[in-house]
Amino acid sequence: MRDAELIVNEETDNGSGPMIIAQNLVKIYKTRDIEVLALQGLDLTVERGELMAIIGNSGSGKSTFLNMLGGLDTPSAGKLFVDGSNLFDMTGRQKELYKKKTVGFVWQNNARNLFPYLSAIENVMTPMLLTKEKNRRERAEQLLDIVGMSHRKTSRLGELSGGEQQRVAIAIALANNPKLLLADEPTGSVDKDTADKIFDIFRKLSTEMGVTVVIVTHDVRLSKKVNRVVAIRDGRISSERILREQYKDVFTADNISWGNEETQDEYVILDRAGRLQIPEKLLKKLELKDNKVTVGYEDGTLTIRNPNAAAEEKEPDITE
Ligand SMILES: Nc1ncnc2c1ncn2[C@@H]1O[C@H](COP(=O)(O)OP(=O)(O)O)[C@@H](O)[C@H]1O
Ligand SMILES: [Mg+2]
Repeated sequence: MRDAELIVNEETDNGSGPMIIAQNLVKIYKTRDIEVLALQGLDLTVERGELMAIIGNSGSGKSTFLNMLGGLDTPSAGKLFVDGSNLFDMTGRQKELYKKKTVGFVWQNNARNLFPYLSAIENVMTPMLLTKEKNRRERAEQLLDIVGMSHRKTSRLGELSGGEQQRVAIAIALANNPKLLLADEPTGSVDKDTADKIFDIFRKLSTEMGVTVVIVTHDVRLSKKVNRVVAIRDGRISSERILREQYKDVFTADNISWGNEETQDEYVILDRAGRLQIPEKLLKKLELKDNKVTVGYEDGTLTIRNPNAAAEEKEPDITE
């Protein structure tokens, strides 16, 4: 695997390199009596304009990673480049600019970036006060149109449903025209129809406007509709599913029951040291008694065996 700095130096100067390159990211949270390893050497590259999802059990490090991408947290070790810039090499001023201009953030609980006593359009205009956006009202109206909320632009936020507020929150995240949109469980507290609407907005942003979209989600149904889903296990990418070629152009097709179709191919990810995380359902089949396996190579295939099972097979049966 090539070094992140090399890739960035060679490719990103002209804006063509990957949007995100994370290499060997480590995060240790130290509290008074314990240390938590939230990220344990996470590697991930995300291309420009990609629409991708991150899944994983609670506590696997998804939010830690997203917060780092958003410039809200720093790692204990590792490298992180976004849009060609080293996130951990920025001055305070550069970091502030990055948070204002390059990246937009949507949370499950959007109370953090909304003002309930202001109208929808005033909420969308607020972040533009921080930049020199000239046509604030016009731009806010366009954004509310993109998220399908024009008809409620003068309603106070407090008067809107959870799903409607979430759509306004997406418009706010887009106010400063970010290249990268991060969403941490954005459909976690809305119903299925609203989740679909929100997802459609993300899809349009990626396909029609070239925004790179990274969504952390528990929603298996939605995760089947993205180009790529990476699974995080114990602070590291364990597997990846990639949308099959025949589904690439059918995002909008109505005749696909996204719930049942196998839309993606699944891969297990090898890290830089050659380690991989074997899917639990496969590991169970080996019925291991301890943590040792034998690894072999036969006919172009690597094999992983339970050493005890192999020994039993080889032993001559003396009763015969
Ligand atoms: N500020 C913090 N202080 C201490 N531990 C934390 C902090 N934030 C997260 N953690 C721990 O780091 C691990 C990963 O958390 P998180 O990234 O929130 O996981 P996820 O979003 O996948 O549920 C968890 O064990 C969590 O308890
Ligand atoms: Mg989380």
